[in-house]
Amino acid sequence: MNRRYRKTVIAGNWKMNMTATETKKFAEEMKKIMPRAKWCDTLICVPACNISAALRAFKDLRISVGSENVYFEEKGAYTGEISAGMLRDLGVKYVIVGHSERRERFGETDAGVNKKVHAVLAEGMSPIICVGESLEQREMGVTGEWVTLQVKSALHGVPADKLRRCIVAYEPIWAIGTGKTATAEQAGEVCGNIRATIRAMYGARVARSVTIQYGGSMTPQNAAELLAQPDIDGGLIGGASLKPEQFVEIVNAANQD
Ligand code: 13P
Repeated sequence: MNRRYRKTVIAGNWKMNMTATETKKFAEEMKKIMPRAKWCDTLICVPACNISAALRAFKDLRISVGSENVYFEEKGAYTGEISAGMLRDLGVKYVIVGHSERRERFGETDAGVNKKVHAVLAEGMSPIICVGESLEQREMGVTGEWVTLQVKSALHGVPADKLRRCIVAYEPIWAIGTGKTATAEQAGEVCGNIRATIRAMYGARVARSVTIQYGGSMTPQNAAELLAQPDIDGGLIGGASLKPEQFVEIVNAANQD
């Protein structure tokens, strides 16, 4: 973390978990244990149908609500899709874009991810842009090139003044939901490369203002070590964000001076 130049952001990603009723219960538990003063911004990305319930439930907790996905078109005949304007109108501040589960299971491409980044920024929200390599790619030694390509494609055409609002989440696919975390050094190295890519595209001042998260089996046990890496400014947390005590412990780890 480096709080002097950029925000620390702890984000939950609930994926396809939690009903609206469970969301309310979660917030009640959180009210008992969430620290009042926070150095880090905290948010949870919830299933689209629970966004309104989460906005109501998290209001007093100072937890922002994010969406797990968005469609890039403004409006029209796209049955089942949700636009950035619709999310912004509800009060959503953050939108996950290009999660590996969407890339792998729903065929999302780098070009589509780039369109979504533009759509989210145009509505004044922050995209959380997910990048990361598969196990095969890591073993082939192409992690650096792969992640650089994903970052460059996602940010194509994004002006420097909007970059401060972008968050990049490095999520190695082999670490997601597997209990197999990247070591702090592995994660720190890739996050450092991501910042170097942004530096090459936008210059040092912009690059040091961008929040870069790590995601992939982040838990209360490994959060502090990962967050101690200079280029890791937060976490994108799946499983552990479903459990109030675990999520709060990770927030506390990011809250240390
Ligand atoms: P886990 O924390 O469950 O590994 O999920 C990480 C993730 O995919 C967050 O977007």
